[in-house]
Amino acid sequence: MHDVEHQITAGAVMRAAVLRALGEAPRCEEVPLPRAAEDEEVVRVTACPLTNLDRARAAGTHFSAPTRLPAVCGASLAAGTLPDGSRVLFRAPGGAMAEWAVTRRAWCSPIPDSVDDAVAAAVQNPGVSAWNALEWRAGLRPGESVLVLGATGVAGQLAVQIAKHLGAGRVVAAGRNPRVLAELPALGADAVVRLDRPDDAVRHALRAAAGDQDFDVVLDYLWGRPAEVFVSTLGSADMELRFSRTRLVQIGVMAGPTLNLSAEVLRSSGLEIVGSGTGNAPPAEVLAGALDQVLGLLADGVLRMEVSRVPLTRVRDVWDLDQRGRRTVLMP
Ligand SMILES: NC(=O)c1ccc[n+]([C@@H]2O[C@H](COP(=O)([O-])OP(=O)(O)OC[C@H]3O[C@@H](n4cnc5c(N)ncnc54)[C@H](OP(=O)(O)O)[C@@H]3O)[C@@H](O)[C@H]2O)c1
Repeated sequence: MHDVEHQITAGAVMRAAVLRALGEAPRCEEVPLPRAAEDEEVVRVTACPLTNLDRARAAGTHFSAPTRLPAVCGASLAAGTLPDGSRVLFRAPGGAMAEWAVTRRAWCSPIPDSVDDAVAAAVQNPGVSAWNALEWRAGLRPGESVLVLGATGVAGQLAVQIAKHLGAGRVVAAGRNPRVLAELPALGADAVVRLDRPDDAVRHALRAAAGDQDFDVVLDYLWGRPAEVFVSTLGSADMELRFSRTRLVQIGVMAGPTLNLSAEVLRSSGLEIVGSGTGNAPPAEVLAGALDQVLGLLADGVLRMEVSRVPLTRVRDVWDLDQRGRRTVLMP
């Protein structure tokens, strides 16, 4: 995160979500207005999502946590208006949970007229991530089966819809929140699996949902115990030669940061594990294409997502609030 101090215009202030110590929630405070360098633009922020990445950075548990404090929060793309009046999604290394932020033209993407700023800002991170995980990391082919572990979250719900849109033959949604899980067939899930059950029951349900063949692709937003139980459904005890591939894409760690992995599973199944994140991102043009597609699907009403719009001044009150499948969006 940039040091806000070096961008000060004397006297001018704005409201921003300011983090003073790792492990605390940020407060809405007045800070100096950021000033743009020659190749930068000042953008009027209209909507900034509050994501698990923001929480993990503020908690100091993410590798990209700020090393210099105080810092303005807001690491995901936000929506805003450029000086020429155009509505854009933009990246702001100096933080976007503020009334104003600094960006570059190259980091801005237009928002379609029919997509609201808060929804556009909220969909970008989970939507593009799900798209990349399916297309770029898993190489999903039409007709293949997909399991979404952690399908009740904002990202998981979008992953179910995007997998269907990309031609998955069968999409199974697994999660522990029964209320949200019950809504997932309406988003395209062909079957749901409850994870709030004893391990044996979950193992049995996952095997039954997979059918005769192992899942082709697994998007994992949970890791920890649920992913461990899923992995234990793979592999065979015989020595038959067979070919199978289950491409598991690791995306989030809602259930735990580590996993016990038996070597036997890797030798007796087609399990392949890759991650999806900043260290293996596709080229910029592929990312931009994914964002265009996701925004286009929203504009066409193909993708659905729920947002809760909250004034920026209430950032501290809502920082740890679990929205149960809805994304909180801070409105400056
Ligand atoms: N790598 C990337 O590019 C990328 C992009 C987007 C998201 N992510 C990561 O993906 C994860 C999910 O993101 P999100 O935006 O969907 O989060 P979210 O909207 O906050 O949803 C989290 C979901 O996880 C569920 N959950 C939590 N602990 C669980 C457990 N032990 N077993 C089963 N379900 C559990 C919650 O269910 P309850 O309602 O029951 O609590 C909730 O539905 C996060 O770790 C996020 O950082 C990564």
